[in-house]
Amino acid sequence: MSLANGIEYNSRRMKVEVSRDAKLHKLDHVFALVSEGGKGNFPDAVRQAIADSGFAGRSEESITVLAGEPKKITLLGLGKDDALTLRNVRAGLYAIAKTAKKHRSANIGVVVPYTIRGLSDTDSVRVIADYLAGTDYKYDAYITQKKDDGKPLSITATLLSDLDAKECKRIQAEAQAIADGVRTVRDMGNTPGNVMTPTRLAERAEEVAKSVGVKCTVYDKRAIEKMKMGGLLAVNKGSHEEPRFVVLEYAPRKAKTHVALVGKGITFDSGGISIKPADKMEEMKFDMCGAAAVVGTIEAAAKLALPVRITGVIASTENLPGGSAYKPGDIITTSSGKTIEVVNTDAEGRVILSDALHYASKLEPDHMLDYATLTGACVVALGGEAAGLFTSNDELAQKLIECGERVGDRVWRLPEWDDYKELIRSDWADVKNSGGRWAGATTAALFLKEFVDCPSWAHLDIAGTAYAEHENSREARGATGAGVRVTIAFLESLLR
Ligand code: BES
Ligand code: MN
Ligand code: ZN
Repeated sequence: MSLANGIEYNSRRMKVEVSRDAKLHKLDHVFALVSEGGKGNFPDAVRQAIADSGFAGRSEESITVLAGEPKKITLLGLGKDDALTLRNVRAGLYAIAKTAKKHRSANIGVVVPYTIRGLSDTDSVRVIADYLAGTDYKYDAYITQKKDDGKPLSITATLLSDLDAKECKRIQAEAQAIADGVRTVRDMGNTPGNVMTPTRLAERAEEVAKSVGVKCTVYDKRAIEKMKMGGLLAVNKGSHEEPRFVVLEYAPRKAKTHVALVGKGITFDSGGISIKPADKMEEMKFDMCGAAAVVGTIEAAAKLALPVRITGVIASTENLPGGSAYKPGDIITTSSGKTIEVVNTDAEGRVILSDALHYASKLEPDHMLDYATLTGACVVALGGEAAGLFTSNDELAQKLIECGERVGDRVWRLPEWDDYKELIRSDWADVKNSGGRWAGATTAALFLKEFVDCPSWAHLDIAGTAYAEHENSREARGATGAGVRVTIAFLESLLR
């Protein structure tokens, strides 16, 4: 049974159209982002509203005027002209969605008469359209008494653009593809752990794959045993839910290169026997966001019809304590043959990824990226503004940093020098699964590296970026879709 539109997913989405000659007078409400310099090629009605109200465009300043046709115009200040960053524009877009809802404006126009600093005109419009589509997102699948009384307002936003009509159409479709992928990740991530079990995660991957013509193979516990994936099986031991190993294959005929994407799919991380403190443990339902990023990225890539072969590899289980749970001191033999001494059952992500990375390496992809909410240490280092990037390949690092910066899905490089390897050396096995607190994100990356055989590999630690602990000026609380945008930009960069 398909639950694609069932209770676990939010169905509200802002529809975004990109248009050159929108009929502003027919809209309920037109929103314009205005910079302090007042520059920008505004439609007449908006220019009039700016002049009449004396709107200065200071950051966080806003005003709504009753215009006639359109009925209302809201001006939002962006601050100084040199502040035309994606970050500021995103805050403006998020404020637009909130204001539209407050006014119950269903048909809105959005005017952003600037190009985001550092982007081409088309890239700028695309990223704005993509983020705009996600501004109305709220995961309310389990709120039985919806605020809007069961009549959710579905907003259609027309984004004005100077691009020619054909370009507008293309950009609109591309933005939608990316926004769809991001939404998939957010829905999966926000779904509670009792529903988003490894079984359900695999089913969801199958549903998404089917909807975009991607092949999906799901391995159950018996098949995982046959493949001798000792890492995944060890972490799964304390759980009553079966593990899953999922392989997604997007193989367009004109593929120019092959990229493997590997994701951590811990559907709930209690820490296991090395149990976590109770405070905020509920956030560990997000510990499958790496796996979700793989699903969402492949969805977007397929919708964009990118001529890149992509293989998604996901390992999924819960991490729970119990009479049969794996324990500190245990030694595990992974599918690669390498052995792991478990010193902390809460360092479980790297244990399941050992099997997934080995599996992906055997496919000999040209590039391999992995996504994991892997360490608290990475969150301590970078907070929520950037994912940790670990790779020994400078060219790959440069590309990923640039791509992330462009699309607001930042990654920042941290070392993965072998100098730190001593910290995860084991007296009893080939490697131990924790190097302790110092350089915790780096030792985790070095552990993963033990199981990788690919010259162009990067590890993205998305522990800090995968979900927002609180709502902020740019996005709702919960899963963010981190990883999708930077990866799509990276895949596109391979085609240039
Ligand atoms: N899933 C956690 C990492 C995490 C922490 C994600 C905070 C998001 C927010 C991971 O499995 C974990 O528990 N890592 C341990 C590793 C340690 C035991 C070496 C950590 O970071 O404390
Ligand atoms: Mn853990
Ligand atoms: Zn974890």
